[in-house]
Amino acid sequence: MTSMQSPVIRRARTDDVAAIVELLADDPLGARRETPGDPAYAAAFAVIDADPHQYLAVAEVAGEVVGTLQLTFIPGLSRLGATRALIEAVRVRADQRGGGLGRQLAEWAIATARARGAALVQLTTDASRTDAHRFYERLGFVASHVGMKLIF
Ligand SMILES: CC(C)(COP(=O)(O)OP(=O)(O)OC[C@H]1O[C@@H](n2cnc3c(N)ncnc32)[C@H](O)[C@@H]1OP(=O)(O)O)[C@@H](O)C(=O)NCCC(=O)NCCS
Repeated sequence: MTSMQSPVIRRARTDDVAAIVELLADDPLGARRETPGDPAYAAAFAVIDADPHQYLAVAEVAGEVVGTLQLTFIPGLSRLGATRALIEAVRVRADQRGGGLGRQLAEWAIATARARGAALVQLTTDASRTDAHRFYERLGFVASHVGMKLIF
């Protein structure tokens, strides 16, 4: 479905947490990992919100949270002390997908990273998400690295 209005992209607040968790749960991979309503999310949000290197964003259309992503700024020594930005947990509500909202959210994140002086933006996306790979490649991302995870 096409979004009729441009989204407002803003920092998430405590009262957005339930809607964000619904978005995280609303896809085949997330459905296996998330438990909407669990108090763990409020505690995690407090940690994110208190950290100046984190920007948990929501996209709001007509007063409803319809998209989210988390932008993290990672200071480092390499590349002359460059900061890199990490994009994680990107979701657009199922009934809004394919209408350009994801692109607007990702372009906002890239512009925000650049404005904060980051030298690059990086992300990982599950190897099974071939639609998402196409989405990121169209935004200019190059699959130049192999992502590895050790999950506890
Ligand atoms: C990937 C996602 C954020 C893109 O947002 P969007 O608003 O649908 O994207 P846009 O409308 O700006 O761009 C369309 C492109 O997104 C991708 N896309 C569209 N629907 C998708 C879906 N259900 N799942 C994954 N990617 C999708 C496709 O590449 C599509 O291009 P196409 O028309 O050539 O197929 C969104 O579809 C989504 O939340 N998908 C499920 C979760 C996911 O894959 N998140 C990324 C994890 S890293």
